[in-house]
Amino acid sequence: MKKVLASLMICLMLGAVAAMGASASDMGDRIADTCSQCHPAKRVCKMIGIKDSAAWTKTITRMVGKGAQLPASDIGSAAAYLDSLAPGTGPVCQ
Ligand code: HEC
Repeated sequence: MKKVLASLMICLMLGAVAAMGASASDMGDRIADTCSQCHPAKRVCKMIGIKDSAAWTKTITRMVGKGAQLPASDIGSAAAYLDSLAPGTGPVCQ
């Protein structure tokens, strides 16, 4: 019974990791879409590694003020996502 429980736990953990991976790349695609409406996504790409998550939160909030289609509740996770990328990587750099 313990073994069954252990493998159940492992499955759940793997599932959670897979789900996190999917939502991170969904966020990347959404940002690439949303943030290339007014200027090239390259403009976002250039700032990866320069802005930290606080600076991204400010920038994204400013962009939403200009009309970027991102719900206010997603600003924090979008900022964290951009802060987590290595310079020159992610869908905004393609
Ligand atoms: C409604 C049009 C519009 C959308 C959509 C938009 N932007 Fe912008 N963005 C601008 C304009 C206009 C500027 C230049 C003026 C300025 O910096 O305020 C700019 C400039 C920038 C800059 C350079 C200035 C700085 O603060 O570093 C970055 C980075 C940026 N945008 C990121 C984003 C991100 C990330 C998104 C998606 C959440 C986004 N933009 C979506 C209009 C937009």
